[in-house]
Amino acid sequence: MRVPIIAGNWKMNKTLEESVRFVKDLLPLVEPFRNVERVVCPPYIALAGVADALMGSNLKVGAQNLHWEEKGAYTSQISPTMLDGLAEYVIVGHSECREYLHETDDIVNRKVKAALAHGLKPILAVGENLAQNEAGETLSFVSSQVRAGLAGVPAEEMANIVIAYEPIWAIGTGRNASADQANQIIRSAIRDTVEALYGAEVAAALRIQYGGSVKPGNMAEYMSQPDIDGALVGGASLVVSDFVALVEAAARVKGA
Ligand code: PGA
Repeated sequence: MRVPIIAGNWKMNKTLEESVRFVKDLLPLVEPFRNVERVVCPPYIALAGVADALMGSNLKVGAQNLHWEEKGAYTSQISPTMLDGLAEYVIVGHSECREYLHETDDIVNRKVKAALAHGLKPILAVGENLAQNEAGETLSFVSSQVRAGLAGVPAEEMANIVIAYEPIWAIGTGRNASADQANQIIRSAIRDTVEALYGAEVAAALRIQYGGSVKPGNMAEYMSQPDIDGALVGGASLVVSDFVALVEAAARVKGA
């Protein structure tokens, strides 16, 4: 049984003070839904404050990115060692980092391996852009991103990985992929690729999220799909009542 996982990716939103206030408000409202794993991914500047506010709770913390080296001359970067004790999860390969920070598949793969080596659980984000989607390249492209992102990752680490399928054309646009469509790509391009790489058991245990304009109003629809195990959520995760509604919908449809 795969435990559903909802992760809020706050991107470049909320100050330290706003972040801490948000999780203090959110925590008591999502605590009852223990059959759904819940993660908030605040900006780096708020990680320590949020981790402190959530210490001992079952609302988990994720970082939005990391560098693959432990330390060194990488101005502005945050290493896996620095995340120790602050985050359990880390988003890797988000399309905004691939696009604006020019993160290649090779960089994403180094980050996945560095996260795992330091006991962090990567949420590996993959997804095609609009042109690729319209050209019918979605399955082959997403599958190649999965293969590249996981290169050199041993089977025994796969239990610590979550994959998020986020079609770029659906992120922050209000133009979401239909639940059916998303499930089909998740099954064929992600779960089947992982099965080819690691076998049926690993593929069946892997948690795969959908992301891209997920809202309280469409969450239940996604969660009703057999291969969708949760969501990576941007906009709707910034509002306490929406976050709670997402978790509630996941618990209702698929609470483990
Ligand atoms: P969105 O963002 O929910 O605002 O579309 C999702 C994401 O980028 O993770």
